[in-house]
Amino acid sequence: MARIAVIPGDGIGVDVTREVLKLLELVRDSGVDLRWEEFDYGADKYLASGVTLPDEEIENFRDHYDAVFLGAVGDPRVPDMKHAADILLGLRFKLDLFVNYRPIRLLDDRLCPLKDKTRDDVNFVVFRENTEEMYAGVGGHLKKGTRDEVAIQSSVNTYKGVERIIRYAFDYARANNRTRVTMSNKSNAMRFEGDLWDRVFAEVAADYPEIETQHLYIDALVMQMVKRPEQFEVIVTCNMFGDIATDLGAQIQGGMGLAASGNLHPGRTSLFEPVHGSAPKYAGQDIANPLAAMLTAGLMLTHLGHPEWERRIERAVAKAYREGNVTRDLGGSLGTAATGDAVCENLQLKQSIET
Ligand code: NAD
Ligand code: IPM
Ligand code: MN
Repeated sequence: MARIAVIPGDGIGVDVTREVLKLLELVRDSGVDLRWEEFDYGADKYLASGVTLPDEEIENFRDHYDAVFLGAVGDPRVPDMKHAADILLGLRFKLDLFVNYRPIRLLDDRLCPLKDKTRDDVNFVVFRENTEEMYAGVGGHLKKGTRDEVAIQSSVNTYKGVERIIRYAFDYARANNRTRVTMSNKSNAMRFEGDLWDRVFAEVAADYPEIETQHLYIDALVMQMVKRPEQFEVIVTCNMFGDIATDLGAQIQGGMGLAASGNLHPGRTSLFEPVHGSAPKYAGQDIANPLAAMLTAGLMLTHLGHPEWERRIERAVAKAYREGNVTRDLGGSLGTAATGDAVCENLQLKQSIET
């Protein structure tokens, strides 16, 4: 039996999570032993009680659940993002989810905004380091609020942290018959961390002689993602560059409404969330695209030992798109709920079971 903690969160996180729960019901009714509970962490709770996400709850997730599904967090009433940082970054850091796995996979040629690029050209994964670097929270203010103010945000890169994400990328490549791993950093300008990443990349690569390596500076990487995405199979990079590159990646696979992600630590409770945020201007209006969240549920089902469901969900989403049963951002005219229903109906059809 697999247990899932569900945090709808804020804004459209709530709208898209509702569709994910419909999907999980269908999966459960098809015989997969799943159980889930909802948790109301988010801006409303924080504003009413000051509670963001207590450490004891994170321990509860770690000890009693196999996965956490998060819709999105972020609310204009909390401009400093205090609750969102505690919830999202808190889960990533305190569960030590060092792998941020973001597949960039085009499900239909017409979704790609790049000229003449097809499903064969846009099909790679990004592994974003998820516990260090500029996100580590090391830094501070000096003379805050004066004209002499100094703000320092330190980029923390450890040998252990760099080694484990790079090794994960190579292991993934080997296990999935991918032939090339690309590492991206900015070692021409950021010499200290760049040197560490360059050295560790070469050291780990030596253990995988059958896998070709490539190094691109991050500015060149994002340029090449647009120009020749077909050269990429597996990309590994640091936290901040991975954040930025995967929003670009989302666009070349059809937009934020389709980009899925998993925050992983092999063998431990992992966190699944669409790449998009809470898009407050669309909240509660049955407008948001639920497909990124539903594809994310597919990644979660693979983590829970049911990879056939990830493939079935991808096919059901692609069919909904082909038939125009999608939200306005993808050129359809359906609302969030009707789009979720269309995917669930496709999943019940016989052809979704074919492999
Ligand atoms: P966003 O992803 O919420 O929205 C940016 C734009 O992308 C939207 O205005 C909309 O046009 C489009 N979009 C995103 N998701 C969509 C969907 N499912 N369907 C249709 N269109 C969609 O990013 P933002 O505006 O920069 O951030 C809003 C809030 O979300 C902020 O508070 C931010 O910090 C937070 N955020 C949270 C997460 C998370 O919880 N994982 C991720 C990113 C941003
Ligand atoms: C993401 C988001 C988060 C990040 C924010 C909300 C802190 O943009 O998951 O991509 O930067 O990691
Ligand atoms: Mn982001």
